[in-house]
Amino acid sequence: MDGFDFRRLTGDDMPALVTWMAAEHAQPWFGDEPRTAELARQHYARELDGSSATRLWVVLLDGRDMGFVQDYPVAAYDDYAVRVQDPHAAAFDYLIGEPDLVGRGIGPRMIEAFCRRVLVRDYPEAPRFVASPDVRNRRSIRALEKCGFTQGLWIQPESVTYPEVVCTAPRSLFE
Ligand SMILES: CC(C)(COP(=O)(O)OP(=O)(O)OC[C@H]1O[C@@H](n2cnc3c(N)ncnc32)[C@H](O)[C@@H]1OP(=O)(O)O)[C@@H](O)C(=O)NCCC(=O)NCCS
Repeated sequence: MDGFDFRRLTGDDMPALVTWMAAEHAQPWFGDEPRTAELARQHYARELDGSSATRLWVVLLDGRDMGFVQDYPVAAYDDYAVRVQDPHAAAFDYLIGEPDLVGRGIGPRMIEAFCRRVLVRDYPEAPRFVASPDVRNRRSIRALEKCGFTQGLWIQPESVTYPEVVCTAPRSLFE
């Protein structure tokens, strides 16, 4: 076993989520996220009640809550789908929240485990998996490349300042 578990995030996890997003290493990429658990519960209300296409997960490593992942069908968000140009793909984002676990090679293992155990299972029709880090986030791009993702289009989502690079891997890599 790889030591990872993924469980659905609940309202009780909001204090941990805002702490993880507020950590120094995460702030450049998650600076616009809610800063209190109550604001986060409001912000993520539709994800928490299951009415959003986006699902939130807590990542556990050897039984310890250590970060989060979210996934969604690219096609669920018109603006994103138009930019990514891969409407059948499944998309995901991720964060190692605990500072002592960053920069130790855990991220690529987490991404690989999530693709293999969650995306393959829950998106049986998706031919590809995509993640689109900020183009400045070299560590995240490298982590994806180590899992077999390749860099493609640069896109400019309306809500963010810097472009993102669409990184894609075929599902077959994880089956
Ligand atoms: C992105 C993240 C998951 C990567 O996981 P990690 O365990 O910290 O990453 P690693 O230590 O395995 O490093 C990944 C690779 O990036 C390289 N790297 C690290 N910093 C780098 C930099 N500034 N430029 C280029 N490469 C860098 C590492 O050397 C390693 O490659 P190598 O094994 O070939 O040497 C983690 O750092 C994180 O959660 N960061 C904050 C949130 C975030 O950025 N999320 C992604 C949003 S898309």
